[in-house]
Amino acid sequence: MGTSAIELTGLWKGFHDARRDQTVIAVEDVSFSVARGEFVCLLGPSGCGKSTLLRILAGLDEHDLGEVRVDGHASVVFQEHGVFPWLSVEDNVAYPLKVRGAGRAERRRRVAPLLELTGLTDFRGAYPHQLSGGMRQRTSVARALADDGEVLLMDEPFGALDEQTRLVLQQELLRIWPDSDKTVVFITHSVDEALTLADRVLVMSARPGRILADVPIPFGRPRDILELRRDPRYGEITYELWRLLRKEPAETRPS
Ligand SMILES: Nc1ncnc2c1ncn2[C@@H]1O[C@H](COP(=O)(O)OP(=O)(O)OP(=O)(O)O)[C@@H](O)[C@H]1O
Ligand SMILES: [Mg+2]
Repeated sequence: MGTSAIELTGLWKGFHDARRDQTVIAVEDVSFSVARGEFVCLLGPSGCGKSTLLRILAGLDEHDLGEVRVDGHASVVFQEHGVFPWLSVEDNVAYPLKVRGAGRAERRRRVAPLLELTGLTDFRGAYPHQLSGGMRQRTSVARALADDGEVLLMDEPFGALDEQTRLVLQQELLRIWPDSDKTVVFITHSVDEALTLADRVLVMSARPGRILADVPIPFGRPRDILELRRDPRYGEITYELWRLLRKEPAETRPS
């Protein structure tokens, strides 16, 4: 698969907790690499540092120790508040193009196929408050695709959706990704989602987040979400991932 697109070595990140005057370690000595064109899922309990890692990969946050290398531009789908409420669907999706100085005609031309792809064409003039949660997430995904980075960082993009919508969007992502040449880091706390989408699943421990295991997913591509679930290996890998996570309770301490 060639050289790596992402390389993390001995990464540490802490946050100062002013109330207790102490440092909370969010990410502890994390190292991994992602090959060019690979789809990797980061799977871990709530509060284990997944979003923190993603923000560091996106260049939005500083790390304390270690090294980070990301080749090329990274487009991000955030966990929440991913769309601008004051912009229409079309303008949300076109935003990265506008930032780069693309004119109105060019923006329209480039955004149209992405609206089609994400099933938003009929809603291109709508504003986020007029959309369902699933449509807002699709707007966010379409915008990241318009941004067209070599690396796509997705932070639980389907996390807030009902199971059925989630399956539809997972299938869509499986359909469009193979032709895109993009390297993807996809964050989730769903075992099913991780093994449905990924080439490789990195399982994280509860805070402080460390990499507990690096689990290759043997399913070929293209993948059909329903057919996958009939594969006997699906149950075995599900079991293995749950076994790794079982000892890792989600963060329950109120913050
Ligand atoms: N800006 C911040 N200031 C202080 N502490 C923070 C900050 N951002 C994150 N943390 C802490 O770092 C830890 C990891 O947070 P992070 O958001 O990365 O978790 P997560 O794995 O994405 O969780 P979730 O699955 O719930 O989204 C948590 O303990 C959180 O309280
Ligand atoms: Mg998060």
